[in-house]
Amino acid sequence: VDLEAAAFTLGGLRMYPLAVTTRCGEAANGLIALSGGSGSIVAEAPRAMIGLSKYNLTHDLVMRSGVFAMHLLAADPPESLEASLSIIMALGATSGRDGDKLTALATKEGVTGSPILTDALAYVEGRVVNSMDCDENTVFLADVVASERLRDGGRLKVGDAWKVLPAEWLETYTRHHEPQAADARRRRGLEA
Ligand SMILES: Cc1cc2nc3c(=O)[nH]c(=O)nc-3n(C[C@H](O)[C@H](O)[C@H](O)COP(=O)(O)O)c2cc1C
Repeated sequence: VDLEAAAFTLGGLRMYPLAVTTRCGEAANGLIALSGGSGSIVAEAPRAMIGLSKYNLTHDLVMRSGVFAMHLLAADPPESLEASLSIIMALGATSGRDGDKLTALATKEGVTGSPILTDALAYVEGRVVNSMDCDENTVFLADVVASERLRDGGRLKVGDAWKVLPAEWLETYTRHHEPQAADARRRRGLEA
């Protein structure tokens, strides 16, 4: 395999960071994911897809609850961008296993019980109809059971967020990502 060509072909295909939340009983949590997308071409019966690493708490909670909310984040106006960066920083570089990440964020309860991030741009809520075990992660397919556009504004791209996220946070993200990548390699039978 030409790994450079593979990275060129596959890298950066999913540009929009999504905030994925769920609730399972008393436990509510969320993370940032780039792996989300549409799961159907049937406009009147939309489906959403998301790939969650087994390393992450949100993976286990979605597995058990069978529900999640998937939020797009806003690129503008400036106060909405600030809110988007706060969501990324709250959810994307630490685990809910180490403390509640949602208390810092404004939420309301969705129809699935998943916390809805009211500072997001828009969201869909889904009930899982199928899932695929992919060794290091699970891909969940869900029927969209609710959706809402929360505000006007453009969609935040991950590259634009990366340019303005604080350097200390990016370091925390890298530190958090390394054991996750090692766990993924182990689950594929490769050397960590
Ligand atoms: C830009 C970005 C993209 C990410 N994409 C994914 C993803 O697609 N799937 C996933 O499981 N984690 C992804 N992560 C990592 C999780 O957000 C991160 O490990 C999080 O801290 C997990 O939290 P939890 O253990 O509370 O669930 C991404 C993080 C960032 C910042």
